Amino acid sequence: MRRIRVWKQAALWLFVFSLLWNTVGAQIRYTIPEELKEGSVVGNIARDIGLEISDIADRKLRIASDSSTQYFSVDTRNGELIVNGRIDREALCGQSASCLMPLQLVIENPLQLYRVNIEIQDINDNAPNFHTKDSILKIAESVAVGAKFPFESAEDLDVGSNSLKSYALSNNAFFRLNVKTLEDGKKVPELIVDKPLDREKQSVHKLILTALDGGDPVKSGAIMTQVIVQDTNDNEPKFEQSQYKASVQESTTFGSSVLTVKATDLDEGLNGEIQYFFGARTPDNVKKSFNINAETGEITVIGKLDYELTKLYTFDVCAKDKGSPEQEGHSSVMLHIIDENDNIPEIILTSLPSPVSENASVGTVVALINVKDLDSGDNGKINLTISTRFPFKLKPAFDNHYSLVTGSLLDREANAEYDIKLVATDSGGPSLKSTKTVNVKILDVNDNPPVFSQPSYTVYIKENSPPGASLFSVSASDIDQDKNAILSYSILDLTSNQLPASSYFYINSENGTIYSMSSFDYEKTKLISIVVQAKDHGSPPLSSNATVHVFILDHNDNVPAVIYPSTSMGSVSHQKMPRSAKAGHLVTKVTAVDADSGHNACVNLHTGEVRTKRAVSEHDDSSQRLLIEIKDNGEPIQSTTVTVDILIEDGFHEPISDYRDKTIEPNKKTGKITLYLIISLASVSLFCLLTFFILLVKCARGSRSCCIRRTNSEYKNPNRNLQIQLNTDGPIKYVEVLGGDMMSQSQSFGSYLSPMSEFSDLTLVKPSSTTNFTDTLNVLDASLPDSAWTFESQQRRSTMMKAVEREET
Ligand SMILES: *[C@@H]1O[C@H](CO)[C@@H](O)[C@H](O)[C@H]1NC(C)=O
Ligand SMILES: *[C@@H]1O[C@H](CO)[C@@H](O)[C@H](O)[C@H]1NC(C)=O
Ligand SMILES: *[C@@H]1O[C@H](CO)[C@@H](O)[C@H](O)[C@H]1NC(C)=O
Ligand SMILES: *[C@@H]1O[C@H](CO)[C@@H](O)[C@H](O)[C@H]1NC(C)=O
Repeated sequence: MRRIRVWKQAALWLFVFSLLWNTVGAQIRYTIPEELKEGSVVGNIARDIGLEISDIADRKLRIASDSSTQYFSVDTRNGELIVNGRIDREALCGQSASCLMPLQLVIENPLQLYRVNIEIQDINDNAPNFHTKDSILKIAESVAVGAKFPFESAEDLDVGSNSLKSYALSNNAFFRLNVKTLEDGKKVPELIVDKPLDREKQSVHKLILTALDGGDPVKSGAIMTQVIVQDTNDNEPKFEQSQYKASVQESTTFGSSVLTVKATDLDEGLNGEIQYFFGARTPDNVKKSFNINAETGEITVIGKLDYELTKLYTFDVCAKDKGSPEQEGHSSVMLHIIDENDNIPEIILTSLPSPVSENASVGTVVALINVKDLDSGDNGKINLTISTRFPFKLKPAFDNHYSLVTGSLLDREANAEYDIKLVATDSGGPSLKSTKTVNVKILDVNDNPPVFSQPSYTVYIKENSPPGASLFSVSASDIDQDKNAILSYSILDLTSNQLPASSYFYINSENGTIYSMSSFDYEKTKLISIVVQAKDHGSPPLSSNATVHVFILDHNDNVPAVIYPSTSMGSVSHQKMPRSAKAGHLVTKVTAVDADSGHNACVNLHTGEVRTKRAVSEHDDSSQRLLIEIKDNGEPIQSTTVTVDILIEDGFHEPISDYRDKTIEPNKKTGKITLYLIISLASVSLFCLLTFFILLVKCARGSRSCCIRRTNSEYKNPNRNLQIQLNTDGPIKYVEVLGGDMMSQSQSFGSYLSPMSEFSDLTLVKPSSTTNFTDTLNVLDASLPDSAWTFESQQRRSTMMKAVEREET
């Protein structure tokens, strides 16, 4: 299309110039547009100079060689001037308004020179042109509205109306275009800031500046300009949250991350590079425990956390950019510390345990105890326990205070001290516990009497031992402690004894060794019972008694004494016998006694009868003398002799008249004893009858239960409730009066006399017994009429009375 258009133009021009040629005459001038196609006809030069077509060849029409042969040529066939090459007006004439190309034509025969001027007319073949395709313009974000920035100008090689005419700026909100016309008419475009820029909203503005020429059609050139808005530090860093919250276990280890704060800064570059810091007024304890990474904003633990010290940390964090001047943003952080069961319960003795007396009543306070656990909540809830095997209890006082009190009665002798184990457990999960041992000493109380190694002791001592001999040692022990266990021994003087035992014996008060203080004669005293007492030094002191039976051992210190035949007439006894006596005739009987006892007194081994071995004959002497030796069985043997003269008489006489006479004395003695016996027996029988009678009367009158015989089913042997025993086959050894039933401690009391020791005048009694028979009678007499006295009550008390009759020799 464009080409067709060019051709049309060219045809128009040709027509115009043909007319000009005709009018101007010799002045040959062609006007052609530039950029004609090669071969285009500028004009018929041959005709214009008046040359016949046939002459063209002959006259050698041509363009002078020095001329612009490169652009034009002459067609020799028809004489037309033809465009030979590209004709660019801008190249030939630049910006000058007219452009003429002179051309020399030569014809020969005759040589003629013609000058042809070809005016090259401009066509709009050049668009406005910018030197660069893209340009970059940097404008500070903070630039004021109205500021101007020069644009690059465009150039258009065409001239006249085809030259550059106007500029246009692509549509945008921030900039407008101003075109300044310089004095030489050159148009200079300017960029004017129409609105405040914000790099953070739009950092790059792409503007297209278009330059337009005045040709028809209009040609244009464009340049793209990137306006880069340069950042200014107009935005502060902003934290993503106005407050950060986090929870941290108190056991969190060093270096653990707790939280990361993050801030953003819309600015770019250093203006947007953020560093994190703690706020200016951050407390020291926060700085000791936490660190904030300046680059990442990560908060880490760098110190020991302790819920019990700090439960909550609040502090400010600050983000700063690196702009100049820098901008900063703030946020706050709350860190809750989560309690963990990291504190073991603690048992504290608020008072040291005081020793407690073993007689302390139940509930006596021994110690005050406080328990503590630094943890909170369940982790700090403590359960204090004590093993039930201890006789102690915990009594809660007020919160976490307890008193340790005695839970039952104590006995130092069983347990002198306790190591009480207390266990405190908290309720955390897992729970922690601690133990404490409390030592409680039990103080002694004098609650145990001394105990003798035996309830009674038996000691034997030989008669005639020298006084001062150490006899025996009693010993007692006391399980109490210290003073309460230090014992002193003493001999008790029983008032019932005729002579105080302390006059016979001495006891070492410290170790209980008993010494005799006199020598003893078995024949006078066979047994001495002494009561020793061991007493501790407690306050009040406790004591106990033990009986020591000291048996005097017989020593064969008495020779047998001949009772018959009497030796009153010197050492010779005279006996008579008939000469008619047969063998076996009893001549006499020797009787001897020995004051010693046992073997020492055993003289009755043989009867002592002296009999004839054969019949006396007429030849025998009428007087016979016998020497009889009497030995006891003691060690050493003691012996005595008696000499008996026997007179053999021939007539019948009272054979043993002498004997009869002589035995009056012993017979008298025996008769006396028998008399006493009868009197004793009679009185005892009387007493018994009297007692039975009184009892019967009392029973009949009083309650039925007291009547033994009626309710005797309970008693196995009611007859024994009151009875008198008499030892009738010899001298009275004892009389026993028993009261009480069989279950009571009824016991026979016997004298310790040997039946053989008829001549002893010493009476020994049990210490607790009433020694005198008449005393017993008196006691009974005094008791019986008393209305308060009942047999039953006597029964209950199991009273035992004993009477011993003194033996008379
Ligand atoms: C414990 O014994 C002491 C001394 O024997 C006495 O003074 C005190 O009263 C007794 N205490 C009790 C509670 O029986
Ligand atoms: C304390 O511990 C004992 C023994 O473990 C338990 O029997 C008792 O119930 C506990 N008391 C409390 C209040 O937890
Ligand atoms: C008791 O003490 C006396 C005197 O110090 C001593 O001779 C005696 O052997 C002691 N007895 C005992 C059983 O220690
Ligand atoms: C020891 O005997 C004395 C004297 O008979 C008496 O007073 C005392 O009560 C007795 N002591 C004991 C513990 O039996």
